[in-house]
Amino acid sequence: MSNQSSPKLIIHGGAGSSLKGKGGLDAVRQSLHEIVAQVYQLLLDGKSANEAVILGCQLLENNPRFNAGTGSVLQSDGQIRMSASLMDGKKQRFSGIINVSRVKNPIDLAKTLQDEEDRVLSDYGSAELLRELNLPIYDPLTDLRLHEWIEERKDNFSRKMAGVVAENENARRGTIGVVALDMEGRISAATSTGGKGLERIGRVSDSAMPAGNYANSFAGVSCTGIGEDIIDECLAAKVVIRTTDGLSLVEAMEKSMAEAHDNKRDLGAIALSYDGKIVWGKTSEVLLAAYHDGNGINDSLEWNDNSLVATI
Ligand code: GLY
Repeated sequence: MSNQSSPKLIIHGGAGSSLKGKGGLDAVRQSLHEIVAQVYQLLLDGKSANEAVILGCQLLENNPRFNAGTGSVLQSDGQIRMSASLMDGKKQRFSGIINVSRVKNPIDLAKTLQDEEDRVLSDYGSAELLRELNLPIYDPLTDLRLHEWIEERKDNFSRKMAGVVAENENARRGTIGVVALDMEGRISAATSTGGKGLERIGRVSDSAMPAGNYANSFAGVSCTGIGEDIIDECLAAKVVIRTTDGLSLVEAMEKSMAEAHDNKRDLGAIALSYDGKIVWGKTSEVLLAAYHDGNGINDSLEWNDNSLVATI
């Protein structure tokens, strides 16, 4: 494997139907670019891929525009339950938290679990962990999300899932994710979500599974979209393993997205590989991704030429 030294970074804030209205697009772009700039600086300062993806997730979770942390969507019973995972590609180690409530940054719990023997906890265990860590109680509910849920209730929850980017007329199917390649060639991936919204109590998101977030020393992938579609494709792990077995990252993403498209899935993914390649793909209309390739920041927001995969 090449020992490339320029760090690489890609983040996403969800996937779904098109961003209508220029105001929405500009605001999403500004949010994503600011976060890329901040996290990329950390990589330039020599910090690890793990530290970078954790900071990226925290910043995305803290931004109420995105469906993770503050601004998470409500489930069918009007409660917020969040899920997040961290995959250290160098150690090839996964940790995750499923359906946690009343915490500001679910990714912090996934980080804590990296060094534990039991590395994936569900709702009851995550509440116990919060208590053990003595983390402050935090309510991630925003007025807009509550209002959306009340409107849905008036319609007897007839929509398949909640709106995800918290702006009127904007994209759906949120989740946030970050994949980084640091100066020492280490790859990490982290993903966090409020879920698909309006789901049944106890439903488990792909974001805290290797289907939605996976990395090793060859590649890292974070997914967004309908969790059940991502799980059925086992998308993140599939792209990483195909890269490990000899396909280039672009070929691995193209093959996997073609299969997802044939299977009528609604999803997106961001990825990078050890040789510094940055790739993203989608079967949904748009993917809200932004990246730093070592030369500057750019994004996928106006990439809508109907192709399934793009690379730089
Ligand atoms: N991809 C996020 C979810 O479906 O829960």
